[in-house]
Amino acid sequence: MNKETRRKNTPVQVDAKRESAGILKSKTGVLHVGIDLGTSRSAVAASNGVREMVGSVVGWPKDSVSAKLNGAAPIFGDEALEKRMALNICYPLVDGNLAYPDLEGVQQASSRNAAIQLMSHLKSLCGATADQAVYAVVGAPAEATKENKQAIIALTREAGIDGVMVVSEPFAVAYALDALEDAIVIDIGAGTIDLCRMAGTLPEHEDQITIFKAGNFVDRAMSERIRKSYPQAQFTLNMIRKAKERFSSLLESESRAIVYFPVDGVPTEIDVTTEVCEAVRLIVPEVVDGIRQLVATFDPEFQEQIRSRVFVSGGGSQIFGLQGALEEGLQKLGGGKVYIVDDPIFTGAQGALKLAQEMPLQYWQQLGSN
Ligand SMILES: Nc1ncnc2c1ncn2[C@@H]1O[C@H](COP(=O)(O)OP(=O)(O)OP(=O)(O)O)[C@@H](O)[C@H]1O
Ligand SMILES: [Mg+2]
Repeated sequence: MNKETRRKNTPVQVDAKRESAGILKSKTGVLHVGIDLGTSRSAVAASNGVREMVGSVVGWPKDSVSAKLNGAAPIFGDEALEKRMALNICYPLVDGNLAYPDLEGVQQASSRNAAIQLMSHLKSLCGATADQAVYAVVGAPAEATKENKQAIIALTREAGIDGVMVVSEPFAVAYALDALEDAIVIDIGAGTIDLCRMAGTLPEHEDQITIFKAGNFVDRAMSERIRKSYPQAQFTLNMIRKAKERFSSLLESESRAIVYFPVDGVPTEIDVTTEVCEAVRLIVPEVVDGIRQLVATFDPEFQEQIRSRVFVSGGGSQIFGLQGALEEGLQKLGGGKVYIVDDPIFTGAQGALKLAQEMPLQYWQQLGSN
């Protein structure tokens, strides 16, 4: 790999300008923050003990009646979705990345504004005091481009965060688990599945893989199957996602996945067991193949070691029976051991926080000049 490519894909990026501008001199204390900026939900963990999670969706009142009822300020997460009939809703992230750099005109401006509001909200959830500078490490998809990372940095600046470092999501998870050596870390999110090979150093581009078939892809696949089986049923992707999260399983079992979707306006019992199972199963070969690629391109003497330490995090890690299904897939590659993390919602944010706390200031600057 040439130097230029390496530079583009450095997994850590720092906003050194603000550091050198001496903006932080007026603050006497520091609040370290880890942010897992996700397509469907974002989590923060701060050095003052705060741990919060919010859906990555922002809503504004549609008109004066809505503003009278809901106030003029933006509304976030589940509350925004509950009130969505009265709000203009914006998801500032698509497939793990900020949406606005790929948009134009009014759409770009409102998406960017939504992203700034979400970041400001995440900062406010951390409860920094007026004299505390906020240093944040933010998780981005494994293969986020330099432009994606710069967009995150620009956003944190506008949200009033004083120092920022962008790391790849699975690297943050690896840091939380102390799995920095001879391990593969996989984050199964809504927009992306990110895989990262840990070899005792900062992961390079070739150590990381992003797959764009994650939770949202499963929702669409499940929706297509249900529409085919029950053409009369009325449902939204949100209803599908809820059903998936409740019933997702890769194991054959007697228990059925029963939902009540309207047919001609009447709630009707529908058995979606097969559709859920088939849809969630679609990601298993993708993940196994990602592991195969990372193993196959690793030092042959250590391949067995990394196959026997595969850690899975993110919302999708909660699919019932995933550990067994992945280990079964690994059998064809020579066997392996898979561990599902205990706290899939906060492990990424915790890892980012740990990184923020352990990274000396001069090292942030050093990384920024990479
Ligand atoms: N029990 C479950 N079974 C299957 N999928 C689940 C379950 N619980 C949550 N999910 C899915 O996990 C995804 C959310 O995970 P997570 O919060 O890690 O994603 P994200 O960080 O928002 O996305 P990304 O990392 O791609 O930006 C959603 O697609 C959600 O439906
Ligand atoms: Mg995520």
